[in-house]
Amino acid sequence: MKEERVASGIQGLDELIEGGFPNGFCYAIVGGPGAGKTIFGAQFLYQGATKYGENGLYITLEEPPYSINNNMLRFGWNLYELEKRDKLALIDASPMKSSKGSYAIKAGIGTEDFSIEGLLGVIAEAKRKINAKRCVVDSLKALSIQYRDEFETRQQILKLIRSLTELSLTTMLLAETSEEKMDAQSFGTVEFLAQGVIYLHTYRIRDNTVRAIEVRKMRGVKIVNKLCPYTFTDTGIVIYPQETVFR
Ligand SMILES: Nc1ncnc2c1ncn2[C@@H]1O[C@H](COP(=O)(O)OP(=O)(O)O)[C@@H](O)[C@H]1O
Ligand SMILES: [Mg+2]
Repeated sequence: MKEERVASGIQGLDELIEGGFPNGFCYAIVGGPGAGKTIFGAQFLYQGATKYGENGLYITLEEPPYSINNNMLRFGWNLYELEKRDKLALIDASPMKSSKGSYAIKAGIGTEDFSIEGLLGVIAEAKRKINAKRCVVDSLKALSIQYRDEFETRQQILKLIRSLTELSLTTMLLAETSEEKMDAQSFGTVEFLAQGVIYLHTYRIRDNTVRAIEVRKMRGVKIVNKLCPYTFTDTGIVIYPQETVFR
């Protein structure tokens, strides 16, 4: 049986992962601040909804929706407009959450009443409403701030991954870490629990900042192990699989 693949909508990525992400699992997209995690997530959902007929859920635990919407407009992605057409749900669990959004949850990150169960309730309802297939969680760092210790954080992340997988959502879990940790090749909690891991590296080479994507693991997929440069263009993230980072 040929496994179903989900096209990423990110130019150059699918050829690194045999045509797309295996359907219905959670993947960690890991990078430093400014690496383009939010752009990656928005692009996955925008292209999913407009090009592949797959609606999506954007769960923000960090940046408020209006800010994400504003920043993504420069790539031509009007997320609010997609939401109006029931092709996208922006679920606001950010610390500065306004209660106005259609999918605002009762208690956002940073409040005592925040819970993964509460969040999952809203996710399940939104999924039903718009028949979502794709999902983005931006970002998991917020959970490590919410919970007291590493053990508890890990339990909550595991619960989130289990439930999103049960809902058959193909999910990008955006995670922030330092370049040192990615280079140390030691997996953190998310990388360990996810079905696949993609690193977004940022290097300084002489006077330049060079960005490179690395598919570190993807269960059941023959991956291209090479570091490939990527840039931000007017149409979003573009990956260059034929080019090299270090000469
Ligand atoms: N049109 C653009 N051209 C070039 N760089 C851009 C463009 N739009 C955003 N950026 C860069 O993208 C980065 C922010 O991406 P973002 O997805 O918010 O990062 P992260 O979520 O990983 O912190 C910033 O470094 C910003 O300068
Ligand atoms: Mg971000």
